[in-house]
Amino acid sequence: EMERTFVMIKPDAVKRNLIGQIISRFELRGLKIIGMKMLKMDRETAEKLYAEHQGKPFFQELVSYITSGPVVTMVIEGDGVVQLIRKMIGNTDPKESPPGTIRGDMALSKSENAIHASDSPEKALREMSIFFTEKELLQ
Ligand code: CMP
Repeated sequence: EMERTFVMIKPDAVKRNLIGQIISRFELRGLKIIGMKMLKMDRETAEKLYAEHQGKPFFQELVSYITSGPVVTMVIEGDGVVQLIRKMIGNTDPKESPPGTIRGDMALSKSENAIHASDSPEKALREMSIFFTEKELLQ
């Protein structure tokens, strides 16, 4: 089933010049990038994106980190792309992410973990609408 997901290359990976290597993995797998923007998030946008983590002990750290430098946001389309990209990315904690996954190969820590991807089609819709209008998604 054709799906869309929201993916974001986080500040630690942008700083370490890993944008190309991360995007290559999605292209090699035959997934289609239908939207892409590089931006520096403001606090309000970060709090909106991470609303579900509000109140958790790591929330303030998460917001300061994600607003600390540029990110690359993308919408990617493909058959079963939500679960597929979660698998390609690995676990939040790089210690739990096997080699071959993006985090297993590139993440530094639980917060500096290189990349974000939506964990359900519903969350994907919510997250992509924070950064993209429907018109900006190109077929
Ligand atoms: P992600 O799954 O993209 O979205 C939520 C983020 O919160 C997660 O990546 C981590 O970067 C961050 N996060 C989750 N748990 C912790 C933690 N225990 N300490 C710091 N950051 C965390």
